[in-house]
Amino acid sequence: MDRLKDKVCIITGAGNGMGQSTAQRFGAEGARVAVTDISSRDGEETVRLITEAGGTAQFWLLDVSREDQVAEVFADIADSLGGIDVLVNNAGISGVDKPTHEVTEEEWDQVFAVDVKGVFFCTKHAVPHLQQGGGSIVNVSSIYGLVGSHEMAPYHAAKGAVTIMTKKDAATYGRDGIRVNSVHPGTILTPFVRELAERGEGGLAGYLSIMEPKHPIGHVGEPDDVANAILFLASDEARFVHGAALTVDGGYTAV
Ligand SMILES: NC(=O)c1ccc[n+]([C@@H]2O[C@H](COP(=O)([O-])OP(=O)(O)OC[C@H]3O[C@@H](n4cnc5c(N)ncnc54)[C@H](O)[C@@H]3O)[C@@H](O)[C@H]2O)c1
Repeated sequence: MDRLKDKVCIITGAGNGMGQSTAQRFGAEGARVAVTDISSRDGEETVRLITEAGGTAQFWLLDVSREDQVAEVFADIADSLGGIDVLVNNAGISGVDKPTHEVTEEEWDQVFAVDVKGVFFCTKHAVPHLQQGGGSIVNVSSIYGLVGSHEMAPYHAAKGAVTIMTKKDAATYGRDGIRVNSVHPGTILTPFVRELAERGEGGLAGYLSIMEPKHPIGHVGEPDDVANAILFLASDEARFVHGAALTVDGGYTAV
């Protein structure tokens, strides 16, 4: 019930999928949740879900690829909620599904603007607030930040960057009492992924017949599987977990 009691927790991209599930889990554990997203409608919906369940949440409109917005919003959150304890760098886009030699510079830059610079900007502008009392940063990378596949070239490079940014920032900020860790989800059946699968050839069943065998546990994940891992890393239960890359992938990267 109280694993994040009264902690001010910023979650980026909290309007959908794993960001929304994480925000709801945090709200149920007593956090004061700063829901941020590029979509007001989706972010406000997350706030509604949290408050209707008895939690505390407020929405801020935020595009993580814009440093001016990140600086302004994080200062406002810290001012109005009394500091920052936890940052979850969740917002991300997957970009084009092409091999490297077909990707344009613009397509590459689009993914890096959100997935890499977004993590950089949010970390940069959260750290001065976290330095005042310690805390936790959780970066959402991917299995594709650890291993290769035939899919999405810019996304692999971007998530790989997030993996090593996590370790670098852990090395730097541990002495300030700021823990920095990453999570690496396998295939997670968010509403968006489910919808894409349903529209594809063979529908959801066809999609699952391809994806499930890649996960040795025999099935793909749910948003709450990742939310629970992020909750652990954000909470004081993980006080000695620092610089870790936690896979939440049903064994995808174990084989
Ligand atoms: N779903 C998967 O299978 C999977 C697997 C591994 C890693 N991931 C990663 O997990 C994270 C969440 O993925 P998801 O599947 O829940 O995504 P999603 O597409 O369901 O939700 C992403 C949210 O981020 C928001 N967003 C997009 N661009 C933004 C920006 N510039 N600034 C702020 N918010 C922005 C969107 O509005 C949306 O609410 C991403 O970083 C993704 O790369 C997803």
